[in-house]
Amino acid sequence: MEEGRKIVYSAVQPSGNLTIGNYAGAIRNWVSMQREYDCFFAVADMHAITVRQEPSLLRRRTLELVALYLACGLDPEGCALYVQSAVPQHAELCWVLNTVAYVGEMSRMTQFKDKSQKHAENINMGLMDYPVLMAADILLYQTDLVPVGADQKQHVEIARDLAVRFNNRFGETFRVPEPLILRSGAKICSLQEPTKKMSKSDENPNASVFLTDERDAILRKFKRAVTDSENEIRFAEEKPGVSNLLSIYSYFRGITVPEAEREFAGKGYGDFKLAVGETVADALAPVQAERARLLADRAYLDRVLKAGAEKAYSAARRTLSKVHRKVGFYRGD
Ligand code: TRP
Repeated sequence: MEEGRKIVYSAVQPSGNLTIGNYAGAIRNWVSMQREYDCFFAVADMHAITVRQEPSLLRRRTLELVALYLACGLDPEGCALYVQSAVPQHAELCWVLNTVAYVGEMSRMTQFKDKSQKHAENINMGLMDYPVLMAADILLYQTDLVPVGADQKQHVEIARDLAVRFNNRFGETFRVPEPLILRSGAKICSLQEPTKKMSKSDENPNASVFLTDERDAILRKFKRAVTDSENEIRFAEEKPGVSNLLSIYSYFRGITVPEAEREFAGKGYGDFKLAVGETVADALAPVQAERARLLADRAYLDRVLKAGAEKAYSAARRTLSKVHRKVGFYRGD
């Protein structure tokens, strides 16, 4: 870690399959930040268990996510890539922050309200404490910037509030982080309802393209993508299906939307959809191959995670001992 560089922290839950929308948004952004900043990236397994998980599946998905991020270009030398639960300071700081977080503010969080409705049979304390644990994640590393999707902005704001509140009560302890709301390289929408964001939890299997989808499945999903009754390939608000396909195509080809429009001028929707599908399948093939190669090399993945956890541990320990001192925990000499 280099002196004087800004610190970036982010994490992703090991739940569900990632889509090409997550790729263009979160993953590629992480990859591009690692050169400029000191980055800590975690697999948030402690957050994941706030809803019910199958333990063996959680373990497998954790490793698969690490392999996927590495396959997408995350450099284990250039950042600390680790599993949240392997660094005990997250839980420890969460406990202290719990005593400055109010029940009222936590019960008003949008995601807590949504998840309480969705998992009405399991409104556990962890679900309500989710934002405090996330604040602990962020504040442990004296983070400057937190790259997240817009849905996580409210959580980063709580982290800021808790940092300021703690600093006011106990003296300067935490750096106050800023959210960095990720604008993905392309706005990628559902292939079936193209006015809606592509989601990893969509019930319609044709709506989302997953990073692990095989070539045949990718081609089939694009073939079935919803368009419109015209036959003109141009980007326009009243043509959300075609516009979405143009965005996806230009993103994965690394060209602009007008360039893509020109390429398909006069062509039919059938050819167009096939070309988009092939482009995406071609772009994902090397990532998929590398992911598979990495998953077959468990020893390597374990080494990466161990080194990442060690980097995280020493940074986290520094902040936590400061916190313990500030709140008056006795440690002897
Ligand atoms: N809650 C985040 C999400 O679901 C994941 C997360 C956990 C996170 N801890 C974090 C993101 C800290 C940024 C910073 O996307």
